[in-house]
Amino acid sequence: MQKISETINQVLNPETSTQEPAKTMASRSKASVAKDRLKQEGVQSNIIQFDKCLEFFEKAGKEYVSQKFRIWREDHLILFKLLVYFYRDEVNAEKHGIDLHKGILITGPVGCGKTSLMTLLRFMLAPKEQYIIKSARDITLEFIQDGYSTINKYSKAAFQQTGGELISKAYCFDDLGVESNIKYYGNETNVMAEILLSRYDMFISRHMLTHATTNLSASEIENCYGNRVRSRLREMMNVIAFGKEAKDKRV
Ligand SMILES: Nc1ncnc2c1ncn2[C@@H]1O[C@H](COP(=O)(O)OP(=O)(O)OP(=O)(O)O)[C@@H](O)[C@H]1O
Ligand SMILES: [Mg+2]
Repeated sequence: MQKISETINQVLNPETSTQEPAKTMASRSKASVAKDRLKQEGVQSNIIQFDKCLEFFEKAGKEYVSQKFRIWREDHLILFKLLVYFYRDEVNAEKHGIDLHKGILITGPVGCGKTSLMTLLRFMLAPKEQYIIKSARDITLEFIQDGYSTINKYSKAAFQQTGGELISKAYCFDDLGVESNIKYYGNETNVMAEILLSRYDMFISRHMLTHATTNLSASEIENCYGNRVRSRLREMMNVIAFGKEAKDKRV
């Protein structure tokens, strides 16, 4: 299997790639048609080479998500916004209402590709900026085994020493809302709500970043975690939403 770093290098830096760089006239004109189309879709940036990123996603997606992976045209804008965020494109961030100091919350129907996108985007980031993807369900199971230390592990104690610097660990909590309240020695605890509340405090004091994916709507988040969590999530994350009509890519 080809290393992901090589895939990224080939797609984003074709001129330095060790693989054949030769582009025929035909493929060049095909590329310029594709560029024009992206221009029409309003996904243009001085920082992001969106066409190259799409190419990367297709390649990496086939390798790391599924052989059938392809980028759907209707997902272009969502992908573009995510790239704007992770590449810190200030001009487009302002245009699309994205706050670069917050995290990302991807919402959308079951199977629309939320987890796959967060998995692939991670590959594009420098190691220092990479978030850890952890499913909410797994964290809840960890809580059942290890108890309250789990809450600290994913919030107040989520720091790592990097190059002599203590930096906070960014997490992407996958599939928020699928887990349920857990009884631990008779006490009912909503593990993810506790972690999110603690991470909010750390976001304010130490700029700890949190990303997440969920199938829940804002009101369902409130039902699941309460309005204190809902309002804090809004303050600490940019919501990037697939439409209700987004298709289940599992079928
Ligand atoms: N762009 C794509 N092209 C083809 N298949 C895809 C694409 N994105 C995701 N898939 C496939 O669709 C399925 C669902 O993807 P994924 O798990 O990312 O969705 P999700 O939105 O996180 O779903 P859930 O809401 O159930 O967590 C996976 O089997 C994945 O391999
Ligand atoms: Mg998912």
